[in-house]
Amino acid sequence: MINESLAFHLNVQFLAVNIMRVFVNGYGSIGSRIASFLQDDPEIDVVGVGKYSPDAGVDRAVSSGLDVYVPHGSISKFKGKAAGDIQSALNMADIVIDASPGGQGLRNKEVYKKHDVGVIYQGGESAFGSESVSSFIFNSRVNYDEALGRRDAIQGSCNVTGLGRIIEPLRERYTNDIKRLDITLIRRWADIEQTSKSFPDTIQLTPNPHHADDARVYLGDEIPLYVRSVKVPTRQMHLHIMDIRFQGEAPSTDDIHRLFAAEKGVAVLHGAADTKQIRDFANTMKYNFTDTNMVHIHTEMSASRGDTVQIAYSDDQTGIVIPENHMLLQAMMLQRPYKDAVRHTESLFHMEQRKHILERHFAPA
Ligand SMILES: NC(=O)c1ccc[n+]([C@@H]2O[C@H](COP(=O)([O-])OP(=O)(O)OC[C@H]3O[C@@H](n4cnc5c(N)ncnc54)[C@H](OP(=O)(O)O)[C@@H]3O)[C@@H](O)[C@H]2O)c1
Repeated sequence: MINESLAFHLNVQFLAVNIMRVFVNGYGSIGSRIASFLQDDPEIDVVGVGKYSPDAGVDRAVSSGLDVYVPHGSISKFKGKAAGDIQSALNMADIVIDASPGGQGLRNKEVYKKHDVGVIYQGGESAFGSESVSSFIFNSRVNYDEALGRRDAIQGSCNVTGLGRIIEPLRERYTNDIKRLDITLIRRWADIEQTSKSFPDTIQLTPNPHHADDARVYLGDEIPLYVRSVKVPTRQMHLHIMDIRFQGEAPSTDDIHRLFAAEKGVAVLHGAADTKQIRDFANTMKYNFTDTNMVHIHTEMSASRGDTVQIAYSDDQTGIVIPENHMLLQAMMLQRPYKDAVRHTESLFHMEQRKHILERHFAPA
């Protein structure tokens, strides 16, 4: 029998080992979502969030129960609402989730190094050359185990995350039968909350998009993946149009739909004629931030002809990376086995349930 004080000591030890102190640096589309979900995780102590502009986001964070940390030289601009400066937050944190605008993570890297904290960067950062913040890009469906115990990682961008969720099951099922994957990414211009951001009335071309290079970091250089990308004036998700070319005759669309019906984080939908219908349904269901946190196959767009299967899927630009950040935290900080991490992430995000609800709502006629 262990006596009460030893039991208390062990319990404190257990808590001390398992509670992660996380600082979310940046409170925009991604940072605000991550911070909100982490607050619901009993294993996580959210140190606070980093804010750089003294705007309405500060009050939103404070009223959500978050401490706001700001650059040292700007504290007075935040009129008594800041809990301290960024350095003090980093002193308290075991790990920082950098949710700054793309490219800013690179500039923050030196500060993080000085504080010797673990860092998760987001997909706007680079894994290559002199701009690299980390050589590792995470996709929980593909390389979870490689993230165990890491001190730095990039959570792939929304489109890069969606690519892994679709390509890995295809690769597992069809292995060497896949000859090439050609993808056209149709990217949204802004996020749902960015109502004041206006769009130009045009389709913007994206020369040399980063997505295939990023996906190759976790899928491997041998993946025959070709991506082209354009940007269109909408806030309602990204759309990927994918041609999967096989060595011989392509499988049927039913086979492909069955494959994805068995995948977490992929909803197989019928009758969703546009991406907004899905967002609107998520809003009706009161999903946090109107996110589904997944990709959605639009089955009416599927076709199998000769050696090629064509599919189209929409990618919840803001939501898809949030459970991924949570998985990555568990891999880096707790070295938790994949299945246990999935279970814990599921307890916060309820993605299985959401998938079933979406698939029931958008069911075959
Ligand atoms: N939006 C998406 O759909 C999406 C999806 C996947 C990945 N990502 C990636 O996630 C990252 C964040 O994107 P986002 O869309 O959330 O951007 P965002 O909405 O523009 O928010 C950026 C946040 O970073 C803060 N910030 C400004 N300077 C900073 C600094 N020096 N250090 C830390 N934070 C700073 C800003 O603070 P203030 O507001 O106080 O100025 C703002 O809260 C990017 O790498 C992006 O590529 C975005």
